[in-house]
Order: sequence, then structure tokens, then C-alpha cells
Amino acid sequence: MDKLVIEGGRQLRGEIAVSGSKNATLPIMAATLLAPGQYRLTRVPNLMDIRTMANVLRVIGAKVEQSGHSLLIDTSHANFPEAPYELVKTMRASFYVLGPLLARFRRARVSLPGGCAWGPRPVDLHLKGMEALGAALTLDEGYIVAEGQKLNGAKFFFPISSVGATGNVMMAAVLAEGETILENAAIEPEITALAEFLLQMGADIRGIGTTTLHIRGADSLQPIDAEMIPDRIEAGSFVAAVGVVGGEVELTGANPDHIHSVIHAANQAGIEISSRGHSLQIKANGRPAPLHLSTAPYPGFPTDLQAPFMALLSVANGNSSITDTIYTDRFAHVPELVRLGARINLVGNCALIEGVEELQGATVMSTDIRASVSLVLAGLRAQGRTEVLRVYHLDRGYEKIEAKLSKTGARIWREEGTL
Ligand code: UD1
Repeated sequence: MDKLVIEGGRQLRGEIAVSGSKNATLPIMAATLLAPGQYRLTRVPNLMDIRTMANVLRVIGAKVEQSGHSLLIDTSHANFPEAPYELVKTMRASFYVLGPLLARFRRARVSLPGGCAWGPRPVDLHLKGMEALGAALTLDEGYIVAEGQKLNGAKFFFPISSVGATGNVMMAAVLAEGETILENAAIEPEITALAEFLLQMGADIRGIGTTTLHIRGADSLQPIDAEMIPDRIEAGSFVAAVGVVGGEVELTGANPDHIHSVIHAANQAGIEISSRGHSLQIKANGRPAPLHLSTAPYPGFPTDLQAPFMALLSVANGNSSITDTIYTDRFAHVPELVRLGARINLVGNCALIEGVEELQGATVMSTDIRASVSLVLAGLRAQGRTEVLRVYHLDRGYEKIEAKLSKTGARIWREEGTL
């Protein structure tokens, strides 16, 4: 297993190109199952999670070819509506195929994802939404078996705002008979991108970008080509990176509209950000100012940036707090940041962070995608050498992060590791 080695203490200067959004690409890949044919997706990030979803589609019988940042998907001969445990357990987003499989084949067998480093992550809302559309669900040896000879439009209220459940149920509803109304639907940009993709395929969806979606089922949909949106979480992670070590970076190919809450938080921490079209100029110097952050569904501060901002606030000039209201157990990075010299105490779902002047290099362990990036950020700031083990977590969600950071002056490289 590879590890990343970082020699900290260098400011970042230069340009970083933002990749396409992983979390928008994954449901869109699943959506290609809805209509047989050829799709070309461009600006697809080159990541492990994308390869995992490609393998899920291949099991189902689709052809998937990746060339650079393009994906050519042919779902003409998809005929095996099943997602196996071996793949779903490595990436929960594989569960996104449930809705499209059920809609196209009227039956599906999809493994339940199982445990997660962020604590319990149920999929009950995905299942309740499918049931509301008339699917019959049973559990068979860890797999959800869904049957729905006829899916009917229905009114469904999400008691909790859920990105995955909104996407999944929306994909089932676009081929159901009659109108589906989804209330308290997620409005994350990745869900909007999925809805727009479905619209281009011929789906009838109104209310895109709002919490109430009206979906009128179509008889059939058509394959299309589409470009993926910029990754707002990667962009926000680089904002935190500049804040933690200082410097001046131009982020290109970003969508500033998707990260208002992040820009606001960064500004409060003393990071200067100006945007010009799809570029963000980020400037930071000295220690960040302390912040009190709370995660919330979009347009609130994203839970996916909780860990990177914790690395930032670890060196703030005062005491900060971060409360995660979405994933209340998502704090596996805390003890690792503490190994680097951060002073963080957890009280329930709130991390109390006493800013320190310096961090010190150490060997630390990645536990999930965003936790890993927080360790990289802390390593960039720490004095001496930091080794981040189990970097495969990072490879799931950050394309060539070491190359992007070295290009801006960081000393960071990959080595073969043993753990
Ligand atoms: C997606 C993102 C993830 C991000 C999260 C929240 C992808 C591939 N992943 O995950 O990076 O952190 O949104 O922005 O896009 N919940 C239930 N029952 C369900 C589904 C969710 O109780 O059936 C709860 C979750 O436990 C959580 C909250 O709803 O507390 C939000 O989760 P959700 O938006 O569904 O996250 P994911 O789609 O899994």
C-alpha cells in the first residue's frame, strides 16, 4: 500500500486545476443504466471510486472504457441487475444502481453496503422511497431484492435531507407511471447535476434546485453525452490547504457559486478569496483566525470539508469548534491530527480545537477520503516529515493530489508502503 511523504513548512504558490466532481459523476454513471445505448461522459476525474462504479456497471453487463478524463459507457447489453457485495462494500455509492435497475429491469438485487468509518450510514430512506413507488423489497443474504413490475408515481417526504436517497428515488421515478413528488429533496449541486442529466435524457422533472421535485414518468429515455461539474469538495480542500500553510494559489475550473459557505468560512478565517469567472484567487498569510463551524445540508457548510477545515483550525490563532450535524461520528481524523500536535477534544459531535502555533511531523493513518486529506494538509504545515499511510483512501477521491500540490511548491511524494 502506498504512502504519502510530506516535508512540511512550504507555502503554496501557483495554479491548481480543479477536477470533475466525483460525487456528481457516480450517480450519473448509474443513470446510464436507465436507457440502453452509448454515453460519453467528459471531465470525469481519474479516481478509484469511478473505477469501482465502472466495475459495478460491467457486472451488470455494460461496457465501460476510460480514456483520460472521458468515459464511454454502453449500456445496450446490460442484462444482469445485480450489484455484488465485493464492490458495494468498498464504495457505498454503488447503491445508486438500485433505482435505475429497478426502473429499467423492474427488479434488482443490490448488496447492502454494511459498515462505514463515519458511524452508522443507513439506507432506509432509499428503500422507503422505492417502496412508496410500489416496489416490493426483501432481504436475501445481505442483499436487497427489489421487485416492481409496475412502479407508480407517489408523493414521498424525506424526513432527513439525503443526497443519496434523493438521487436514487429520483432515478427510479423517471420511468414510473404518473407523477412523483419528492419533498425535502436534497439540493446539493451533485443532485442538481444528476437531475439536469436526466432532463437531457428526456425525463420530465420540475423544481430542479429546490427541495420539491415534480417528476412525471416517461415511457423511455435516450442516451446522451455530458460534461461533469467541477468538484466543489476538492476546491474547498485546496482553499483550506492554502489557509493552513499560506501562499497564493489560483484555482482554475472551479464553480464559485457552489462553495459560497466555504468561501464565507475561509474569509472569516482570514483567507482572502476573489473569483473571476471559473477561477478563484486564494491568498493567505500567517495563522488563520479561529472559527465556529457547523455542517449542514447545502447550501450550508459541507460535512465533507469538516476534516480539511479541522486541519486549518488546528493552527488557528485561538479556539475554534466544529460541529458535524450530518455525520455525528465522523471524527476518525481527530486522534491522527492530535498525533501531529493538534489540540482537539471531542464532546459528542463537536470538536473543540485549541489552535497551536506549530504542528510536528509524524506517521499517521488515513481512515477515509476526507480524513486523509486533513492529514495531508496538516502534514504540509507540520515541521519535519509526515507520512500518511493507507493513501488508497485518498486515491478514492482526490485526483493526483501530490502532483497538484508539488506543482505549487509543496514537498510531497508517494512511496511504496507496507501498512
Ligand atoms: C453523500 C456524499 C458524501 C457526503 C454526504 C452528505 C456521495 C457519493 N457521497 O453521501 O460524501 O458526505 O452526501 O453531504 O455523494 N441518512 C439516513 N437514511 C438514509 C440515507 C441517509 O438516515 O437512507 C442520513 C445519513 O446517515 C446522514 C444524512 O442522512 O446523517 C445525510 O446523508 P446522505 O445525504 O444520504 O449522504 P450520502 O448520500 O450517503
